Amino acid sequence: MPDSLLTQLFSLEGQVAVVTGGTGVLGGAMVRGLAGAGARVGVLGRRRERAEEVVAAVAEGGGEGLALPADVLDKAQLAGALESVLARWGRIDILVNAAGGNVPAATLTDDTTVFDLPQDAFRQVFDLNLLGTLLPTQVFGAAMARRESAGGAAPRGSVVNISSMAAQRTLTRVIGYSAAKAAVDNFTRWMATELARRYGGGLRVNAIAPGFFVGDQNRALLLNPDGGLTARGQTIVDHTPAGRFGEPDELVSTLLWLCSPGASFVNGVVVPVDGGFSAFSGV
Ligand SMILES: NC(=O)c1ccc[n+]([C@@H]2O[C@H](COP(=O)([O-])OP(=O)(O)OC[C@H]3O[C@@H](n4cnc5c(N)ncnc54)[C@H](OP(=O)(O)O)[C@@H]3O)[C@@H](O)[C@H]2O)c1
Repeated sequence: MPDSLLTQLFSLEGQVAVVTGGTGVLGGAMVRGLAGAGARVGVLGRRRERAEEVVAAVAEGGGEGLALPADVLDKAQLAGALESVLARWGRIDILVNAAGGNVPAATLTDDTTVFDLPQDAFRQVFDLNLLGTLLPTQVFGAAMARRESAGGAAPRGSVVNISSMAAQRTLTRVIGYSAAKAAVDNFTRWMATELARRYGGGLRVNAIAPGFFVGDQNRALLLNPDGGLTARGQTIVDHTPAGRFGEPDELVSTLLWLCSPGASFVNGVVVPVDGGFSAFSGV
């Protein structure tokens, strides 16, 4: 395939992206991937210093980033982040909703049953993953939709949500996280339909459902301090036909594809990137 066709299909040159959870393990890999494809990238998370480190790493690679310290559950802070992006770059084309994760108190242990599950913890994990996806989509998505009036052209933009293997099939213990990520899948399809019907097919919403990757919050669940697998980590690897955890950079090509001009007719899908986990019955 000639380079020019590849560029035409997949280049994000000149585009502006915001990655919530860009301060995390998977979001950080996505920031670097988007920057490598030519996008200028806002790194959104609550930890300002960490966001600045990620931006510095992007600059070292020859890219351009902007630290956006903000909480995804605070709409005023998100509006401030959007203002910073528009002041710096004047546009927003891509939003990746990677902020999220589990809340330990919403996870069952050997000593707790589902009947003991604290309501507050369930609400907290639901808020982080579902509201934490809805609110940035409202703030940054509205700016994508508004571009119609600015240039006269139909609005364009791509939102990519981060789901999980927990959304479709039961993963033991993580009851609240599973319900919240299932809601993210539904929200992805709902928003894809709503935005395309109301603003035209140039505004798209899709999701990636990662398999198992070692992140900051699940490291202790998957790996022992000596680096060996925990019993749960071993079960996961046994149910992953690839026979290993994923590497964060292995999410990048799917992300670039979903954001790229080449995916202009891809809308409302949840793409598993899981080494075959979701395809395997375990037998
Ligand atoms: N690792 C996996 O195997 C896996 C599998 C499937 C799905 N996922 C999903 O992938 C996403 C990233 O996970 P990860 O493994 O990379 O975890 P991680 O390293 O712990 O990253 C989580 C990110 O979420 C951000 N965050 C949390 N609460 C926030 C808030 N209220 N406001 C703004 N940002 C907030 C954190 O940033 P600050 O601390 O700076 O706020 C951090 O950047 C999550 O949605 C997770 O559910 C992970």
